[in-house]
Amino acid sequence: MSTKKPLIVGNWKLNPTTQKEASDLAATIAKKQKKQLSATIVVAPSCIHVPLLGKSLGKGPVMLGAQDVSTEPLGPFTGDVSAPQLRDLGVEYVIIGHSERRAMGDTDEIIQKKVLQTLKYKMTPIVCVGERTRDIQGGFYSFVEAQIHALAAVLDKTMIKKVVIAYEPIWAIGTGKTATKEDVKEMQLFIFSTLVKLFDRATAAKVTLLYGGSVKAANALELHKDGGMDGFLIGGASLKAEEFNTIIDLATKA
Ligand code: PGA
Repeated sequence: MSTKKPLIVGNWKLNPTTQKEASDLAATIAKKQKKQLSATIVVAPSCIHVPLLGKSLGKGPVMLGAQDVSTEPLGPFTGDVSAPQLRDLGVEYVIIGHSERRAMGDTDEIIQKKVLQTLKYKMTPIVCVGERTRDIQGGFYSFVEAQIHALAAVLDKTMIKKVVIAYEPIWAIGTGKTATKEDVKEMQLFIFSTLVKLFDRATAAKVTLLYGGSVKAANALELHKDGGMDGFLIGGASLKAEEFNTIIDLATKA
């Protein structure tokens, strides 16, 4: 099991619809986690709800995240939201290169720029990697390795230590098909050894690694205890306050 303080991130995606639902969900999580010292908790609402949650979460233990960021700090980029704008609203973590964004056109080069913007404005990038399918020959390892190489190409040792890498196999996202604890453990070791080769052992040990893909209360304990990752990136289950709170409890007690 990881010895780092667990990092639990809720990715709300395009949910919920109303401001009231968003603030109620955040308030229920914040209330339960008021005295939480054993985990770092982040909720990433859709960007339209970021200012609302920035106000309601305030300086409490639940931190504010965003689901994406522009490659540019300002200018003629219709529809974009910039890193300095997010920072100004109190955002601390930014999810980058989620497979749903990669499917909408985010390339490794775009992801590199978004990571650099996020670090420049003193926020933590959560960079998602993960294969679409698993092949019996293990080709998916090379796929994940290539995504990490692309990320590392623009970062030095000091920068990579500030990045969170979330392993999210696409086949497990929103499908109810979770990777097994053995799958997760093998990938944690693989990502760690890839980082050791690219940087060094001490640097690799500082990089926070998450697992995401159909994490729920029913599988969080064994995935956290035996998967070797430092926490979770959670989609569907993060929209149910009680289940999200249970996952946090399980990760802190594992
Ligand atoms: P899921 O989503 O927990 O609903 O599978 C995870 C994610 O997309 O980050």
